[in-house]
Amino acid sequence: MKLLFFGPPGAGKGTQAKMVAEEFDVEHISTGDILREAVSKGTELGKKAKAIMDRGDLVPDEIMNGLVKEKLIELDSFILDGYPRTLEQALFLDRTLKELNKEIDAAVLIDVSEEEVVKRISNRRVCPKCGKVYNLITLKPKEDEKCDVCGTKIVQRDDDKEEVVRGRYKVYKANTEPVIEYYRKNNKIITVNGAQDVEEVTKELFNILRRFK
Ligand code: AP5
Repeated sequence: MKLLFFGPPGAGKGTQAKMVAEEFDVEHISTGDILREAVSKGTELGKKAKAIMDRGDLVPDEIMNGLVKEKLIELDSFILDGYPRTLEQALFLDRTLKELNKEIDAAVLIDVSEEEVVKRISNRRVCPKCGKVYNLITLKPKEDEKCDVCGTKIVQRDDDKEEVVRGRYKVYKANTEPVIEYYRKNNKIITVNGAQDVEEVTKELFNILRRFK
C-alpha cells in the first residue's frame, strides 16, 4: 500500500495516518515529525528548520526531497504524511518513484474548514518525549497535562499559535492545493469528510483503503 495524506494543518492527517499504518501494517512517514525530531535533537537539519517552522513557512524543497528519497528507497509500503507540499516536491516524488519502479495507489484528502482547524489546533497538545498527540477537548490525557504513555508533561507546539496557524493555512492554500489538483488530474484523489468525529473518519478510511491491501 502506497499512500499520500493531504489536508490543511490540523485536519487530522497524523491522527488518521497512525491508525491506518497500524491497521494495514504500513510505515507512517511524517515529514513534520522528522523535522521536529531533528529540532529537538539539535542536528544540522534541526537548526536549519527551526525558525522556518516556527514562522509557519515551508522548509526548502531540496532538503525535503533528499529526506524523503532516503526513506522511499527502503520501503515497499508507506503513508507519506505532509509530503509532497509543493509542485516541485510532487514532480520530484514522481521521478523518484519511477526510478524505484514504484507507484502511488491513492492520495487521501482529509477535508476540513479553516475555522475547524484553528479550533482543533489551539487545543492540540503533544508529548515532547514520545510524540503522542492530544486534544484538550476531544482527546484529553487521563491525568491532567500528563502523557498517558510516558507521563511527561504535554506541551503546545511552537507553531500552534493562532496567527501562525492562519499563516500555515494560507501557505497550504497557495502551495499544496495545486499539488492536490495535480493528483486529481491523475485520478488519485480520495476525499474524506474530516469534520466528523475521529472514529467516523477512521471507519470511512478503513473501508475505502481495504481495496489497496
Ligand atoms: P506538519 O507537522 O506536517 O504540520 P501540518 O501539515 O500543518 O499538520 P499538523 O501536524 O498541524 O496537523 P494534522 O493534520 O497532522 O492534525 P493532527 O492529527 O495532529 O508540518 C509542520 C511544519 O514542518 C510545516 O509548517 C513546515 O514548516 C514543515 N514541513 C513539514 N513537511 C514539509 C514539506 N514537505 N515541505 C516543506 N516543509 C515541511 O490533529 C490536530 C488536532 O486535532 C489534534 O489535537 C487532534 O487530536 C485533533 N483531531 C484530529 N482529528 C480530529 C477530529 N476528527 N475531530 C476532532 N479533533 C480532531
